[in-house]
Amino acid sequence: MNKNIMEYETVALDDNDNSVIIIDQTRLPGKTQMIRLHTAQEIWDAIYLLKVRGAPAIGVAAAMGIYILAKEIARQQAEAGKIDFDCFYEKFKEQKDYLNSARPTAVNLSWALNRMEQVCVKAREEGKTVPEIIEILGREAREIKEEDIRVCKAIGENGLSLVKPGDGILTHCNAGQLATCRYGTATAPIYLGQERGYHFRVFADETRPLLQGARLTAYELKSAGVDVTLICDNMSAMVMKNGWVNAVFVGCDRVAANGDTANKIGTSVVATVAKRYGVPFYVCAPMSTIDFNTPAGAEIEIEQRPAEEVTQMWYKERMAPEGVKVFNPAFDVTDNELITAIVTEHGIARAPFRESLEKMREKHL
Ligand code: MRU
Repeated sequence: MNKNIMEYETVALDDNDNSVIIIDQTRLPGKTQMIRLHTAQEIWDAIYLLKVRGAPAIGVAAAMGIYILAKEIARQQAEAGKIDFDCFYEKFKEQKDYLNSARPTAVNLSWALNRMEQVCVKAREEGKTVPEIIEILGREAREIKEEDIRVCKAIGENGLSLVKPGDGILTHCNAGQLATCRYGTATAPIYLGQERGYHFRVFADETRPLLQGARLTAYELKSAGVDVTLICDNMSAMVMKNGWVNAVFVGCDRVAANGDTANKIGTSVVATVAKRYGVPFYVCAPMSTIDFNTPAGAEIEIEQRPAEEVTQMWYKERMAPEGVKVFNPAFDVTDNELITAIVTEHGIARAPFRESLEKMREKHL
């Protein structure tokens, strides 16, 4: 019997900690294929090509990735009979910088890699040997994953307090279990509500051009038994005007210190429409996605992706004229004034966000 997609782990280490195993999300929903990533190039490609995607899942894949690469550096040193921390650390940083270059917008990528580097440096300062540092890195990578599950659950509890049984909820892109290690961020209130008999009616935007909403969100929610209706991106105004939506929950790739939020392209359209129809718009954000070093949304680097994603992907034949100019940003920034609240694992932040997020940070430290 086919396994339900909710039973798979989005990102995991293999039994010997020699590779990172991910679900190839570019094949879903048609095919569930697990792939093993061994080399820096394979990990980089998997992130760039969105085989593993969604800010928290990218962070976990990067942490596990740098761990297995560090292990390999140490193995090669041992084989050559030259175990030396400085040489190990230089190579570790090279690999870290390389992985970090895969995608620019989701802060969890650099957040996870920096956390792994800090652990490595601290262990060295404590006088640990390279083999001991490898063990510590392995524990940290696993902890980042376990933490993601706890954090998503806490976001779910906090988000659930904002809605009531029977509500209509709209979501954009995939900020679900497939974008994290369990529960998702924007979907966490939906899954917890499902467990508790809330009977939400969920609308999933298909999310042009890569269709994360259709291929991933609609798929995982349906597999979990949630009442989900797929809509094209340009239908959200109609469903909100009809009064079918009581709340919008979205995820995020980077939240600036003032609350401006980068998320999948089209999110700011949804937020604008929600404001027009008086529907609360909630951003579900793990603290790891809040970037206090970026003061406002204008400073967030937005990834630009290939034109083919718009002109021909998913179509039997190219559907746009040859040579037409294409603008294909992967994310947009929703201005903080369109956001009703930012839901974190520590509670619910409301405007003014600079202050409320700072308070969350104090709880977090
Ligand atoms: O390009 P993607 O698929 O990585 O974009 C994903 C999103 O924009 C998600 O909404 C975001 O990462 C939040 S995931 C919990």
